[in-house]
Order: sequence, then structure tokens, then C-alpha cells
Amino acid sequence: MPRKQEDRDIGIALLGLGNVGAGVVKLLEDNAAAIRDRLGARIVVRAIAVRAPGKKKRLVEVDPALLTTDINATIDRDDVDVVCELIGGETEARAAVLRAIERGKHVVTANKALLAAHGEEIFAAAEARGVDVYYEAAVCGGVPIIRALREGLASDRVEWLLGIVNGTSNYILTEMADKGRAFGDVLKEAQDKGYAEADPTLDVSGGDAAHKLAILLMLAFGTTVDAAAIPREGIDTLDPIDFEYAKRFGYVIKPVVYGHEHAGGVEARVHPAMVPDRWMLADVAGARNALYVHSYALGPSMYYGAGAGMMPTAMAVVSDVIEIARNIQAQSGGARPARRHRAIARKPLLDPGDVRSRYYLRFTVADKPGVLGRLTTVLGERDVSIRQVVQHGSGGADGGGPVHVVVLTHEARERDVRAALATISSLPAVTSPARLIRVFE
Ligand code: HSE
Repeated sequence: MPRKQEDRDIGIALLGLGNVGAGVVKLLEDNAAAIRDRLGARIVVRAIAVRAPGKKKRLVEVDPALLTTDINATIDRDDVDVVCELIGGETEARAAVLRAIERGKHVVTANKALLAAHGEEIFAAAEARGVDVYYEAAVCGGVPIIRALREGLASDRVEWLLGIVNGTSNYILTEMADKGRAFGDVLKEAQDKGYAEADPTLDVSGGDAAHKLAILLMLAFGTTVDAAAIPREGIDTLDPIDFEYAKRFGYVIKPVVYGHEHAGGVEARVHPAMVPDRWMLADVAGARNALYVHSYALGPSMYYGAGAGMMPTAMAVVSDVIEIARNIQAQSGGARPARRHRAIARKPLLDPGDVRSRYYLRFTVADKPGVLGRLTTVLGERDVSIRQVVQHGSGGADGGGPVHVVVLTHEARERDVRAALATISSLPAVTSPARLIRVFE
């Protein structure tokens, strides 16, 4: 009788032993028995490629004999079935992943920047070589959103999606809104907790969210988009006063991504937005992530959980390894699963100027007769219809000083709103640039 495939250990190599790599080692130890029961085999770490094997302080204890600086030799080992790329960045990671594929190894990666920039090349190489590339940890940390889109909704057609996919920026906005804390302090804390990217500007500028949105668009709409071309605004320009006003109007400010397939192309954007405080998305706090998906047959569905951090992300990586191990056991690793990741078309991104949205506009103006009328006239001339206007404060003891005028609009075209703001900013009564935040209803 031939030995059953299920009895064979699955050998893995880790490239990187930072936050996520350490979590993978810990999870494989902590859940070893359960994983073995579920898989009928052990997952064994054969080697770990690191930059400094002699480093004293690590997040987890490992057998020093496993550590090496030689990435290529680690990938090439005969006893390695799956290479887990956990080094981040693009150049070195791309070379490592392509080498692994070329050597016939399956790949697990948590690297959204890599997939957003080189996904097409990587998936094509994997398909040609007949190996798997899994990447559940790349979007929404531990929340199994890739599986939900790829498998759970395989028979459905996604119409649009709206979500919070960057834990760091959600953590920062939650702390600023709930505790009035300063941006810089909270960012430092998010870094200490291991939520932020090595370069945290990616988190706060919306770059990380754009990478994740590009992956979601590929799965949801079967399209490849250039993540760098997705219009985005960061959370670093928000002013604390807008959290206060949002609350008064019944909204919460959240860092969102939005994707919507239209007949003429894909609408995609990353920015802070106001969402009604009664929505479930408004309650997604701290480093949690959530994705609300609207699909043709299922209608609405929502996926929620820990979007960043060592163990949630490691959980997704190890679950991918288990999935690949099952494919190996079934001897189906390769072309079929890899094909499921491929984009089918290149659909154009809609011009942001043509996109319609509701807006919160905050003007700082002199509290003088006729100013409000002028503002609303300019908006009206540009076809921007007003839903609500509130003036906050009064212009000091003598009047005339600066006050905030907040306008909530009905749905309007972005090009029209921008044109109105340009005209308004040139009015003598306007004392500082208008603030614009999109509103979902
Ligand atoms: N920096 C990322 C975040 C990590 O804050 O969401 C998880 O991808």
C-alpha cells in the first residue's frame, strides 16, 4: 500500500520573522494539535530567512538552527512545500515570490503592496507553473474576506462594496473621536501595537487601503486596476472640529474604501467619510476592519473582525497554509486554485470628477449679512443642491468675526462641487479654505 498523502508533513519556509512571522511560529506551536487533527498532518517550519540571525530580542523564541540570511537557499530547500513571504515591500518580495513559484513552491503572502503592484505577473506565473498563491492576510488582517469573495460569493455578482480596511487609521480616528486624543500620539501607539506599516505614511495617507481596494476590485469585479491611480485622501488632513460637527449631525467619520461597478467602468476611492451613527460600520472601532458587500443574489452581507495585529494576521497566513496543504493532499495544488485569483479584464477607473456623492462642506466665513446667501447661490449655480445648512457660533461681540457654516448636500457631481468651492474660496468673506468630507447615507 502506498503511504497516504495525508500522513506527510507539510514543510514551510518563513521569509521574515517580524510581527507576522513571529505570530505564525507562535500559532503553529499553540494550535499544533488542532491543526494536526484538522489536516491529518503536521506543518513544520524548515527554515526562517531573517536579516540578522544574531538578533537578541525577538517576539518569539525559535531554534537558532532554523535561522539563515540566505533567502534563495531557504526557498530552494527540497523539504519546503510552501514559502510564506512576510518581509513586506515590493522589490525583494517580488523576487522571492517569483523564485518560489519558479521552483514549484506554493506561496502564502500577506503583502498587499506586492499584489497590488505585481499581482497579475505573480498569478500568471503561478498558473503557468501549477502552484498556489494565497493571500488572505493581505486584506482585512484575520477577517476571511478573500475566501468570502472568492468562494462564498463565487456564484454571485458583486455590485458595490464599502469598508474599513486599514486598522491603523481606524484606530487613530476612533481615539481622536472618542477621547479627543492628538493624531501623533495615537499613531505612535498604533505603531507600538504592531498595527502600522513599516512606513506608517502608507496607513495615514490611504496608500495601504488603496492596495487592499485594488485586490478587492480584482476579486469582486474581475478587473485589474492600478492602485496608484485610485483617487485617495488620507486621514491626516482631518480637523478635530469636524468630528464634533459630525456627531451633531448624527455621523461618525471613518476611513473608508468604496468600489462600485458601473456600465462605463469602476468607481473606486479611498478617503475619510461620514457614515450615519446607526450603521454597523459606525461601530467598527479601533483596529477592527469591516467590509459591507452588496451583491446581486445575496443582497447585503458584512464581514467584520480584527484587521491588523500579530495573531489575527498570523491566523490568516496559517489558514492559507492549511488550505494549500489540503490541495497538496488532494493533489490539486496549482492551476485550478491559482486561476480563481486571476483578473479577467482591465476595466477603466471612472474619472473622479464624474462621480456623484453627498458632501459635508465646512466654510469659515465672516459673520456678515449676505454671506450665507452668496455661498448657497454659488452652490446652486453649480447644481449642488443643499440638504441642510447650519451656522456654528457667532462672529464675536461686535459680530463680523469668523464663524463656521456647515452645508450638507444632496448627491452632487464632484466636478461641480470642486468648481463651487473654487469660486467660494475667492469670496472676500471667506477666511480659510473649505473642508470637504464625503457622506454616505
Ligand atoms: N497597517 C495595516 C493596517 C496592517 O493598519 O491595517 C494590516 O494590513
